[in-house]
Amino acid sequence: MKTVWVTGASSGLGLHTALALRDDGWQVIAGARSFDGIDRGDGIRRLPLDVTDGESVRRFCEQAAKIAPPDALVQCAGMLVLGSCEETDPEEFRRVMDTNFMGMVRMNREVLPRMRETGGGKIVMFSSVNGLMGIPFQSAYTASKHAIEGYAECLAMEAKPFGIQVMLVEPGDHRSGSDRYRPRARAMTGKSPYAAAYEAGTARIHRDESGGSDPDRLGRIIARRLDRKRIPFRLRIGTLKESLAVYIHRFGGARLNAAVVRQYYCGKK
Ligand SMILES: NC(=O)c1ccc[n+]([C@@H]2O[C@H](COP(=O)([O-])OP(=O)(O)OC[C@H]3O[C@@H](n4cnc5c(N)ncnc54)[C@H](OP(=O)(O)O)[C@@H]3O)[C@@H](O)[C@H]2O)c1
Repeated sequence: MKTVWVTGASSGLGLHTALALRDDGWQVIAGARSFDGIDRGDGIRRLPLDVTDGESVRRFCEQAAKIAPPDALVQCAGMLVLGSCEETDPEEFRRVMDTNFMGMVRMNREVLPRMRETGGGKIVMFSSVNGLMGIPFQSAYTASKHAIEGYAECLAMEAKPFGIQVMLVEPGDHRSGSDRYRPRARAMTGKSPYAAAYEAGTARIHRDESGGSDPDRLGRIIARRLDRKRIPFRLRIGTLKESLAVYIHRFGGARLNAAVVRQYYCGKK
């Protein structure tokens, strides 16, 4: 039986991915801050993990390795702060970067030597459509996902000779995210000069997410891919509209892209 370690598996896409992998026959060892290590006997071993804390990452990896070394690592732990670039404070930026990007750096530093020792493995990193394009009032999140995209390209080239494959998952909006992990920046009050655009933009973000794609389907797609010998470097999972947005971003030029995206999120003004 193959073993997968999954981070951020207590809710949202991480949970759905862990369940799909379990149903597909993987031994799943899952990590999240809210896990207490008690075995619920449902085929998923849940261990406490805070990816922002190097000691917690080390402990998780040691405990998980005692159960079984990873054939695959799937990294879903993530959060965002909604706010304007001007008013999101450095501490809020740091928290998002530390969770989304540095969390993966910490996990990979622990897992890579283990995979090298066992002759290879698969590392899956949750990016986002925001890893490819910016969206107003999600600058910290967008920056963290762009960092993951660049880092993953380097990692894939370096790790290949050791039989380690890397895959970026780039989901569009899915009906899964919890509001707990999407706080507004402290300064985003009614007095903000960005208040009107911010309220319109975040209402759109919430609408798109609550009407988003099916998270079970995403879990099943990832499980199917991980079963294959070779995995793609990028796996985008979303709607036609989201693919079109990425296409406009890549080929439409900066001015057209900004006009379309701004209009979509903030209206005309
Ligand atoms: N939902 C979407 O539409 C969407 C779209 C594109 C990309 N994504 C990406 O998919 C991933 C999952 O997002 P989601 O929205 O589905 O899930 P979510 O409901 O927002 O859950 C976030 C998960 O991350 C864990 N987490 C947060 N901080 C952590 C930390 N410091 N250490 C360990 N775990 C931590 C949480 O568990 P604990 O609180 O228990 O630690 C939870 O399991 C994220 O990387 C997100 O960027 C989501």
